[in-house]
Amino acid sequence: MAKVSQPLTLAPEETSSKANMNGVNGNSTPKDSATTPRTHRFDPSFTQNVINSTGPKTSPRLRKVITSLIQHVHDFARENEITIEEWMAGVNFINEAGRMSDDRRNEGQLLCDVIGLESLVDEITYKLVSEAESTPTATAVLGPFYRADAPKYEMGTSIVHNIPDGDHTYIHGVVKDYQTGEPIEGAVLDVWQAARNGLYEQQDPNQVDFNLRGRFTTGKDGRYSFYGLRPTSYPIPQDGPAGKLLELLDRHPMRPAHIHFLITAPNYKFLVTQVFDRNDRYLEDDAVFAVKESLIADFVPRKNDPKAQFELTFDFQLAAAEKA
Ligand SMILES: [Fe+2]
Repeated sequence: MAKVSQPLTLAPEETSSKANMNGVNGNSTPKDSATTPRTHRFDPSFTQNVINSTGPKTSPRLRKVITSLIQHVHDFARENEITIEEWMAGVNFINEAGRMSDDRRNEGQLLCDVIGLESLVDEITYKLVSEAESTPTATAVLGPFYRADAPKYEMGTSIVHNIPDGDHTYIHGVVKDYQTGEPIEGAVLDVWQAARNGLYEQQDPNQVDFNLRGRFTTGKDGRYSFYGLRPTSYPIPQDGPAGKLLELLDRHPMRPAHIHFLITAPNYKFLVTQVFDRNDRYLEDDAVFAVKESLIADFVPRKNDPKAQFELTFDFQLAAAEKA
């Protein structure tokens, strides 16, 4: 449910006249144009020379991808007439993201998220599967806060530590084969979510290690259940390049309330997804463009359970792995 913007479609003659109107004192420069110029005034053979420098031992896939990358990046630089100063600002931006990243924080991934790249790659990756007649559960971005090796728990255990009642939620459902509808035994659900203050445990020194994370393995019935929190919308971290970029683009940093799931099962494709709270105000305007209609669910009041005030029922449908 990413925002859909109208494509800018100006005919070439319109382009030049509008660019002229936008020019300072009526003097248009190529930077005034919002569309791609068809020609440029730079060395016409330069890009091809760079592409041709790739050696014969390069794999076909890498050759294809890097050739395309060089072409697009060079076109980008020419079209916008990027100066050394502007290019160096971009380099410093990327370097800063690298310096901020470690095994608990992935600023590079977050940067990709705010420009929609992870959601786009997610869509591309699962396109073939989703074109089938019936579909497995939709995917959504992994995001930068996943941690491997979360604690393994028995079904029905709470992943909430040291957070008082109020929005505790019983979360349950079935993991199924999307074609047969049969329950899947041995599926591992790796779940994680932010606390009420909007912070994941690795961002928050007041939470215990691996708080609000856990792994659960289904039995023969494919069922899973655990106690978590009704999720909270939260701002993505604003203290790094991704936050700075959002500010420069005059955008808010909020993500709609969600719970993350990474589900693996023998002989099935893994599923990375998120389940969203239908009542959240940011569903239409997610800072990282990850919301899909089929992943929006109802958190309903739960009665007669001293351990939870809400309940979420959500089934997951996995696609069989392709046979080698
Ligand atoms: Fe998240």
